[in-house]
Amino acid sequence: NEQYDYLVVGAGLFGAVFAHEAALRGKRVKVIEKRDHIAGNIYTKEVAGIQVHQYGAHIFHTSDREIWDYVNQFAEFNRYTNSPVANYKGHMYNLPFNMNTFSELWGVRTPAEAAAKIAEQRAAANLGDHQPRNLEEQAIALIGTDIYEKLIKGYTEKQWGQKATDLPAFIIRRLPVRYTYDNNYFNDTYQGIPIGGYTQIVEKMLAHPEITVETSTDFFAHKAEYLAQYPKVVFTGMIDQFFDYQLGELAYRSLRFETETVPVDNYQGNAVVNYTDAETPYTRVIEHKHFEFGKGDADQTVITREFPANWQRGDEPYYPVNNQTNNTLYKQYAKLAAAEPQVIFGGRLGQYRYYDMHQVIHAALVTVASEFATTK
Ligand code: FDA
Repeated sequence: NEQYDYLVVGAGLFGAVFAHEAALRGKRVKVIEKRDHIAGNIYTKEVAGIQVHQYGAHIFHTSDREIWDYVNQFAEFNRYTNSPVANYKGHMYNLPFNMNTFSELWGVRTPAEAAAKIAEQRAAANLGDHQPRNLEEQAIALIGTDIYEKLIKGYTEKQWGQKATDLPAFIIRRLPVRYTYDNNYFNDTYQGIPIGGYTQIVEKMLAHPEITVETSTDFFAHKAEYLAQYPKVVFTGMIDQFFDYQLGELAYRSLRFETETVPVDNYQGNAVVNYTDAETPYTRVIEHKHFEFGKGDADQTVITREFPANWQRGDEPYYPVNNQTNNTLYKQYAKLAAAEPQVIFGGRLGQYRYYDMHQVIHAALVTVASEFATTK
């Protein structure tokens, strides 16, 4: 379509930031999205007076002042602080692992007592001198056997569909462990939930006269025509699918969400409760009204159970599985991508990388900077 400068495939955060910035630079942009709504996985929708996170709990956090200012152009954020609670067989523990957790588990009162307990358990586990060889060894080395068995093992095995002894150690290297009575999950300077939901952010980014949006439109239905018609394409779908899986399939984890309206004011007293045993089939229950401090109808509440699922073609690919095999395969796809100057691959699926929202905005702004530095 010669009237457009760019075709953006995917109306998620990456695509929306790119489209917005291109339009501000006078470019004409067409955005296509295969779902029947914009905003990708950050999509929220109002139900019973509150914003329901349709694709899992989304808490915005960053230490980057520029990213925080950037996103605040499009919404005002509340003071929400992520502090999930774990339910292990009916016992409740604060997360992330901190003095509250240690005190609940062992009755310890001081950081020195907690550290001694963890050191004692680590020693008893006889891990040897070698580097942790898998997630189980890594977790015990970091935090001891009790926390590993009650709060990590079942949850992680459900999440990845694999035994902790078969999972790589690196998954857990950045486990937050804190010797203070602080239940704030993130260490970032800025954190919050947009008042009025996330969808408005993408809506405002795309509300520019130079941008046209078409939902319920799959790029692969007309790939050849799109490539023939648009001078430049920004692709935020799956990179392996773009190349027709010619080098093989990249692996993803999927999720299934079950959302329910319950006729009580307050179902679980917290936005996020993790179920860390192996038997409960879901990993977490989200009660959306607590993201907004109990706003919404007083006689009902919306909850969502999150079930991890294997991924196969046709399912929603929520998480890239960044193990060595897949990262190696991704690098080969990235080489094909580099030989395709008409197409920019971006976002979580286009770059096969787990990105949080602030990281995806950053990545999109980096792409914008390099794109408009050269083409002006
Ligand atoms: P995203 O997937 O959002 O957008 C890509 C879009 O392209 C989708 O809308 C898709 O439908 C579309 N598309 C794909 N193929 C297409 C095709 N062939 N044709 C047309 N359209 C196509 N981050 C954070 O900071 N804090 C948090 O708390 C969380 N929580 C969280 C929970 C869960 C369960 C998940 C899965 C993710 C998070 N995240 C998060 C991460 C956050 O969701 C993520 O950073 C952004 O949504 C990534 O935006 P993208 O634009 O890259 O992908």
